[in-house]
Amino acid sequence: MSARILDGKALAETVRAEVRRGVDAFRTRYGRVPGLDVVLVGEDPGSVVYTRNKEKASNEVGMRGKLHVLPVSVSEETLVARLRELNADPAIDGILVQLPLPKGIDAVRVLDLIEPSKDVDGFHPMNAGFLALGRPGALVACTPAGCMRLLSLADAKLEGANAVVVGRSNIVGKPMAQLLLAANATVTVAHSKTRDLPGVCRQADVLVAAVGRAQMVRGDWIKPGAVVIDVGMNRLALPDGKTRLVGDVAFDEAREVAGSITPVPGGVGPMTIAMLLANTLEAATRRQARH
Ligand code: GUN
Repeated sequence: MSARILDGKALAETVRAEVRRGVDAFRTRYGRVPGLDVVLVGEDPGSVVYTRNKEKASNEVGMRGKLHVLPVSVSEETLVARLRELNADPAIDGILVQLPLPKGIDAVRVLDLIEPSKDVDGFHPMNAGFLALGRPGALVACTPAGCMRLLSLADAKLEGANAVVVGRSNIVGKPMAQLLLAANATVTVAHSKTRDLPGVCRQADVLVAAVGRAQMVRGDWIKPGAVVIDVGMNRLALPDGKTRLVGDVAFDEAREVAGSITPVPGGVGPMTIAMLLANTLEAATRRQARH
């Protein structure tokens, strides 16, 4: 039996349409539109594309999106000064600093400086802490938030389910585990030092792969009928010199075993930007309510 393919592109379009309606209502109510400012340092080709897409997507839903590009040689103090300006500007609701930052810039200091109510990436210790403590009001990291929407699309029953997250990054693995725990799943966070990783994965009713290793999760690691969410985005070199984007899961094998599965591309990827837009609207609405 072949798995149901979870269409992240279509779901992202649904989320964007929701956000667009929310932005219209926000404008009518408050006489302004939510603002998202994205900061890129340097010219990493992937980051250039991602940040332009974030700016474009925010404008497409009627927000005011702005991309700030700083040279790779920028001093940490100049970057810090720019972030302080963005923090203080009342027209700005969301601030995102694209990662990775160039060597020589203290990323922890920079991320900690973003005003938590504008931290639409959800990376600030206050937002990560609120999520871990199960307190309402956290801005949740976009990729894990998108994975949760995909799990809803799959009708995954999370309560009491065995959920395995492979990968323990601050951006995906850890917040993903917290969200699954909050949904009453029994959560295992596996990583590169985990003993018998295939055996651990085979226990999973819900498997989230976020390790950054091309096609590492094989078909025989998957419990029949499991829901598989593939966060990986890896460039695989082909014999003809071209490259292909693949996930952390060996898709062709996995789809024969899983109950439902996200493809790469077209699964988790499109959801990340959609959830960024949702977070920006949410941040704007909460900030407005406080005034
Ligand atoms: N680099 C890769 N993923 C992300 C993300 O979700 N947010 C930011 N700011 N940078 C990233």
